[in-house]
Amino acid sequence: MQRMEALKKEISLLPFLKVEGKRKLSGHMRVSGAKNSALVLMAASLLTNEVVYLRNVPQLTDIDVMSRLLRAIGSKLSQDSNTLTLNTSELKLSSSHLPYELVHALRASFVCIGPLLARLGEVKIPLPGGCKIGTRPIDEHIQGLRALGARVQIENDYVVAKVISPQQRLTGVRIKFNCKSVGATETILMAATLAQGTTILENAAQEPEIQDLATMLNKMGAKIQGAGTSQITIEGVDRLKGCMHSVIPDRIEAGTFLIASAITRSTLTISPVIPEHLESVISKLQKCGCLIEYSDNTLSIIPRESLQAVDITTSPFPGFPTDLQAPFMALMTTVKGTSKIEETVFENRMQHVGELQRMGAKILLEGNTAFVVGGNILKATSITGGDLRSCAAMVIASLAANGTSIVQGLEHLDRGYEDLSPKLNGVGASITRSHSQVQKTSNLTTKTYEDTQNLYSDTEVA
Ligand code: EPZ
Repeated sequence: MQRMEALKKEISLLPFLKVEGKRKLSGHMRVSGAKNSALVLMAASLLTNEVVYLRNVPQLTDIDVMSRLLRAIGSKLSQDSNTLTLNTSELKLSSSHLPYELVHALRASFVCIGPLLARLGEVKIPLPGGCKIGTRPIDEHIQGLRALGARVQIENDYVVAKVISPQQRLTGVRIKFNCKSVGATETILMAATLAQGTTILENAAQEPEIQDLATMLNKMGAKIQGAGTSQITIEGVDRLKGCMHSVIPDRIEAGTFLIASAITRSTLTISPVIPEHLESVISKLQKCGCLIEYSDNTLSIIPRESLQAVDITTSPFPGFPTDLQAPFMALMTTVKGTSKIEETVFENRMQHVGELQRMGAKILLEGNTAFVVGGNILKATSITGGDLRSCAAMVIASLAANGTSIVQGLEHLDRGYEDLSPKLNGVGASITRSHSQVQKTSNLTTKTYEDTQNLYSDTEVA
């Protein structure tokens, strides 16, 4: 009896997906606005005291956290489905202290340090800390802000920055980044828009989300040239005005859909897409045997029944995106041949390997390089995604597995994919999202897959 009591105490409600494998998909999938663009565009609204309207914003938990953080520092922010209205006219100096729990909940919010320093002259923001995929340092952000004329100190887990010049204004300068960092490029790009004089960024990151940020900042009156290349020039201006901007489509979500099509050997169309944002992914899928065509803003993908293994090495844009490494590895477990998958951007982004091996995948991992021996059928089981993109990989793998899988870790998935299950069910997948009582990991004996099954009850269709 004590054991059942102990189990009851251990039990907690966890959401999970039940995914029926080996179903063919067909039809059209809609791509939402890019999470990694929307987040930095929200931060950029801090640069003006006029209203910024953002359209095509995906409804995600990361966006909710950023909204709460901006409200906490004085931004008046309202949301109408996928449109945000942001008004930071009442930003005050006390706004410059960002709440610890929100910055820790969303490390991407650290880029707010750039606009707040440029707008208010000082800012105090918690160290964002690392996450499961890596230590996520911020040295490039700090060195760039110092170069622009700020005193930046780390004091008890906080970054405290203050503009040195008596005019309380940053000064344009030439900055060469030591590594290609999306976040650091965004932080310094935003700070430089209001600096005195011209800033030149060398070895800048080239991701489409940075191009989207520069497009919006130029609409606000900034003078930025070269975004999307490794050298960006920013001529500082005295103030920025409000604007209306629509977020670019999410290239990582689009790539995830293309991989879902390939792993189920199904023909799909997806839109809207900007193909040059996906060139490296499209060419790898073509190489492994998928026919991909583009017309208007729609991609269509027709995979051959037998696909071939291809090698990938992740690298900053325009290379193969690290955010699609895990979903692509799931695909490689189902094709003929051996593929070499090298992760060069983050130091710990192979957590999905263990879960794929539990599905029967043959993968040899050496450091950050995985050798995937493909050609076998994945078997359905209970799997857990440890971070946003490895959770997406678990869903993708389950689509091709023999049987019905249970995918947990949805708190990660909901951060970056808007309505993933309804979108997949819309093209023929069979995914139900349930909340049920499951055993938290504890020293109790691990449930077998069958035992686990009778713990679950379908409560709602996703
Ligand atoms: C952005 O993270 C994205 N997040 C990540 O997407 C994406 O994986 C990453 O860029 C790479 O493309 C957002 O845009 C919100 P980085 P970011 O700075 O900016 C090193 C997802 O799944 N580095 O480009 O944090 C760092 O250690 C997320 O949507 C420094 O050394 O990434 C890493 O090795 C995950 N010093 C490399 O640069 C610094 O100061 C790339 O990091 C900053 C970074």
